[in-house]
Parts: sequence; structure tokens; C-alpha cells
Amino acid sequence: MAAQPLDTDAAWELVLQAVNRTNVTLPAAGDAAISLNGHGSWQLLHPATEAAKNLLTVFLPLCRPLPRDSAPRVVGQLGQSLDGRIATVSGCSRFINGDDGITHLHRIRAVSDAVVVGAGTAETDNPRLTVRRSSGPNPVRVVIDRNRRVPESHHLFTDGEAPTLRLVAGSYQASFTELARNAVMEVPCLGDTGDGVPADPAIILRVLSDFGLKKIFIEGGGITVSSFLNAGLLDRLHVMVAPMIIGSGRPAFSLPEIDLLDDALRPKAQLINLGSDMLFDLDFSH
Ligand SMILES: NC(=O)c1ccc[n+]([C@@H]2O[C@H](COP(=O)([O-])OP(=O)(O)OC[C@H]3O[C@@H](n4cnc5c(N)ncnc54)[C@H](OP(=O)(O)O)[C@@H]3O)[C@@H](O)[C@H]2O)c1
Repeated sequence: MAAQPLDTDAAWELVLQAVNRTNVTLPAAGDAAISLNGHGSWQLLHPATEAAKNLLTVFLPLCRPLPRDSAPRVVGQLGQSLDGRIATVSGCSRFINGDDGITHLHRIRAVSDAVVVGAGTAETDNPRLTVRRSSGPNPVRVVIDRNRRVPESHHLFTDGEAPTLRLVAGSYQASFTELARNAVMEVPCLGDTGDGVPADPAIILRVLSDFGLKKIFIEGGGITVSSFLNAGLLDRLHVMVAPMIIGSGRPAFSLPEIDLLDDALRPKAQLINLGSDMLFDLDFSH
């Protein structure tokens, strides 16, 4: 009898088993299903649906372990309309992406050590940033909140679902602290509040690395993702495009002006149909 092809649920369980592992064969339903060959390559040993293959292709590269003293791996995401908006002018973004796009977002959280949002997103959306639409662990939650404008009553600071780091104004004093389970910790590191100049995103990665957080997911919004992109600090960017036209609103990307298209970013891209949304998986690592 022909083997039952792996579906996306089975593929996702394989992804979770692959986190931080290399050179191993992982089984599904008793059979060898995928072989991880080190350095990020892998081989499918079992029939799988097209959607399951897509899921493995997108997520297995995000599971590879990082050597202890290596640079972090940084993945950004934006869910946008066809006209490049991530929210209306008033900040409403629920929901631009459909069910499959939102599940995809939760899956990226599940394979990340930390999920980072800007103060604009934390203040407007009051997000939980936990993994609820798939199985997998919650990442540490990080909010870039130099002016402490995110209300203390928001979920990130009160729900106890996962640890939260609140990055605020001040100069950074590195001192290793174990992150207590579900604690909220303030870390001064973003420089002076008064100068209006955004902090160098590299300092944010350094702070997170000092906490042992290396697989970093920059979830939004547009200002925050653009600042990491502009600093050349994103390895990958997942842009999920929804078949929707808003016509006005907050932009996905804001980068310095260029005159010539030769100067535009043209990363290697793979396009994956998630169902409700089209995913552009952009590779900036080369
Ligand atoms: N569709 C999606 O995928 C998606 C995802 C997330 C959010 N959203 C929507 O996007 C909107 C918010 O996005 P946004 O682009 O306006 O704002 P944002 O990126 O969420 O937050 C920007 C703010 O974060 C702080 N920040 C970010 N980087 C910093 C740095 N390097 N140094 C110091 N501070 C830094 C600054 O806060 P201060 O100004 O206080 O200094 C900055 O103004 C919301 O409406 C939300 O619903 C959509």
C-alpha cells in the first residue's frame, strides 16, 4: 500500500523536531521522513503534499542551530495589502492577512528565540505575541519602547504567558541575567530619548545575544522592520501579500530615497502560495 503523504500538520511536527538539530533522520508515522544533512540541507524521504513540502522548504532553514559565538539569525515579517500598506491611517491592521497568513506568523514565532515589535505596534495592537495557532514554544517577547509609551496594563506586561524584555532609553550595561520564566524586565539600552535619532538596531541584537537569544523574529511594524532592513541586519524577510487594496494607510517599508532602480534592493526570492496570502520569502543573507 502506498505511504500516506505527509500533510502540513505532520510536516510542522517535523519542523519542531528539527529545531537546533543537524545530521539526523526524523521519522513520521514510524517511517524515516526527512534526513537533515548538516549546513542546512535536507532530503525528503517520504511522499508529501505540495503544501507540506512548501512548509519544510520555508521553515527548515530557520531551524538550523547557530554556533555559540556566531552572529544572530534575524527574520523580519510584514503582512501587507497589494498597495504596500500594513495598517489603515488610524492603525487598524486586524486583519490584513487571512487565516493561513496568521498561522504562518505564529509558526515563525515558534521557531524563534525572541519576537521583537516596535512601540507603535505594542501600543496600538496590544498583542500577546504567543504561539496559539500552532504547536510550539512561546518566544521571549521584546518591545522597543524608548519612551515607555506602551501602557503597563497591556498583555505583554501582565499576562505572564512568556518573559518580556522592555528596551528603554539609557546606556547599556552588559551584565548577564538569567531571564526568569514569565518575568518582565526593563533594559536601558536605546540611548537618549531627547535626540529623536533611532537607536542603532545592532545594539538591540547585542542585548538579545547577551540574554542568549540568537534566533530573532522582527514582527513589525513597518518602522521597526525598515530600520533593521536599512541597517543590513535582516537575513530573511517574509512579506505576506493579501489580495486587498487599502488605498491609504501606514506603509510597509520606509527607506532612504534613491534615484536609480539600480540602487533598489532585489533579494533572492521564493514565492509560496499560503492559501489566503502569497508569501515572498526574501533572502538577504548573501
Ligand atoms: N501587517 C503587519 O504585518 C503589521 C505588523 C505589526 C504591526 N502592524 C501595524 O503597524 C502599525 C505600527 O507600525 P509602525 O510602523 O507605525 O510602528 P512600529 O514599527 O510598530 O513602532 C515604531 C516605534 O518603535 C520604536 N522604535 C523602533 N525602532 C527603534 C529604534 N531603532 N530605536 C528607538 N526606537 C525604536 C519607536 O518608538 P518611539 O516613537 O516611542 O521612540 C518607533 O516610533 C500598527 O498600526 C500595527 O497595527 C502591522
